Amino acid sequence: MAHDDDRAFAAESQIGRINTFFPILPRLGNRWAASRPWEGLTIGVNMHLTTLTAALLRELSLGGGTFVVSSCNPATTDKGTVELLRNLGMDVYTGGDGQDRHQQVLGHKPDLLVDVGFELIGAALANPDGIRGAIEVTRSGITKLRAASDIPFPVININDGRLKDAIENRHGVGEAIWSAVGRLTGMHLAGRRCVVVGYGPVGKGLAAYGRSAGMAVDVVETDPIRRLFAHYDGYPTPPLARALNTAGIVVTATGRSGSITVDELKNARDGVVLLNAGHGGDEIDISAIARIADRVDNIAEQVVRYRIDGGPRVTVLADGHPLNIVLNNGSPEPVLLHFAVLGLSLEQLATLKLGSGEVALPEGLEADAALLALECLLPEGSL
Ligand SMILES: NC(=O)c1ccc[n+]([C@@H]2O[C@H](COP(=O)([O-])OP(=O)(O)OC[C@H]3O[C@@H](n4cnc5c(N)ncnc54)[C@H](O)[C@@H]3O)[C@@H](O)[C@H]2O)c1
Repeated sequence: MAHDDDRAFAAESQIGRINTFFPILPRLGNRWAASRPWEGLTIGVNMHLTTLTAALLRELSLGGGTFVVSSCNPATTDKGTVELLRNLGMDVYTGGDGQDRHQQVLGHKPDLLVDVGFELIGAALANPDGIRGAIEVTRSGITKLRAASDIPFPVININDGRLKDAIENRHGVGEAIWSAVGRLTGMHLAGRRCVVVGYGPVGKGLAAYGRSAGMAVDVVETDPIRRLFAHYDGYPTPPLARALNTAGIVVTATGRSGSITVDELKNARDGVVLLNAGHGGDEIDISAIARIADRVDNIAEQVVRYRIDGGPRVTVLADGHPLNIVLNNGSPEPVLLHFAVLGLSLEQLATLKLGSGEVALPEGLEADAALLALECLLPEGSL
């Protein structure tokens, strides 16, 4: 079993590799080290604890302040990242001690919050005194933000800018999920038939990268407008039941629980591989599959095959949690770009008055992030 220091070292060297090829965060880190925008503040952060998050937090911590961290999903928590953050002096709550990790963060009386999924901000609303502002990172969190009322501090929505959908959701997840499938299963994708369930930016990327890997891709989408988009992008858009008849691989990206039920899977093709790219772990009803399975085989780490009683065998990857994040796998650049937007938003939150409730990304901020990205990507003198 890997020693904690070995894991932290592995996470550290992975960050070094990522920063070498796309140094957007170290460039910002140098700027924050000089300007110290959150000096004296406590910042509560609830995110997937992956090496990319560690890369972000390390640069943010150069700008002063105290960072207190919780895992937004224990299933996606990378142990090396936790050790690395603790070595940097941060308190990190993973839920492993059975305590409420969000309350543990709030116990540090944070001034600012950063959240993936609105659970930390949601918990803070019970007693919001002292909170000056927050950032919500992902679509599922924005849906909850809009359902909440009377939020007394600003929450910057960094999900709905121009960059996130177009680059992270589409290119980042699209590329990362298929490379994770290859890594986990050893399957060669060309020639296989897959169904992408949900044709938002994430589904769009999954379909495009799946097609470019040589798969035959069907799209299942409940919104007629997005189904029409998928049609004009050249994908068959059958109903789910028909798509499941022939699919060898099914990937969900709906952001909705129960998008695939066990009843729907009873008529799926034998041996179908099921995985999820969406935020939560419940888009495919894995617990119902496990309940009615008459045989369960652990094929490999994160690969479990169930035989549905009276139905097909289905192979579930990563227990239905977002596969790229569970495997700490992926295409780092789009995520790092989104994290650059996050860091620039935190700068604004720490230094400006931004009203209350949902706040759109401040004007020009994404253009600054895009310019920084182009500086990292293009030959010197091209801008
Ligand atoms: N894995 C990652 O790294 C990662 C990164 C970014 C976003 N996400 C998550 O991915 C999910 C999708 O993101 P998005 O930006 O594409 O969201 P989105 O809301 O724009 O798109 C989801 C689509 O799914 C469709 N849909 C909903 N229920 C359906 C069902 N039962 N059957 C078929 N279609 C259905 C909706 O009509 C919508 O078009 C969200 O949960 C988001 O938080 C994951």
